[in-house]
Amino acid sequence: MALLVTFTSCAATGALAEPSAARQKELVNLVRQDCGSCHGMTLRGGLGPPLLPATLADKPADGLVATIIGGRTGTPMPPWHRFLTEDEAQWIVAKLMAGFPE
Ligand code: HEC
Repeated sequence: MALLVTFTSCAATGALAEPSAARQKELVNLVRQDCGSCHGMTLRGGLGPPLLPATLADKPADGLVATIIGGRTGTPMPPWHRFLTEDEAQWIVAKLMAGFPE
């Protein structure tokens, strides 16, 4: 019974659905290459702003996910909804905020 309660409360907080290990590899490559073409291969910025833990720290993760999925109208930041699910964008933002894997 205790187990059931724990499980239910976990689902209620909307726990992040982690991409599979293989998909995580693809996402890391996509961010380093496709996002990196504007944000820099080391994510320190270029045409787009840096995507480093220090520069993202005070920004709400939800807003960053929305920027990735929908792009920013009137700026070069394109929408990625055709290539990424919202869960995948959430995973990317969590990793960017923690320090993106190589
Ligand atoms: C064609 C260039 C380009 C590409 C490709 C691109 N971005 Fe951007 N991105 C931008 C620009 C320019 C901005 C700043 C928009 C503005 O002025 O508000 C931005 C903003 C952002 C922001 C908001 C940063 C902040 O500090 O508010 C995030 C997060 C982001 N991009 C993530 C990504 C991710 C993840 C990818 C790849 C899936 C990506 N971008 C690909 C150009 C790009």
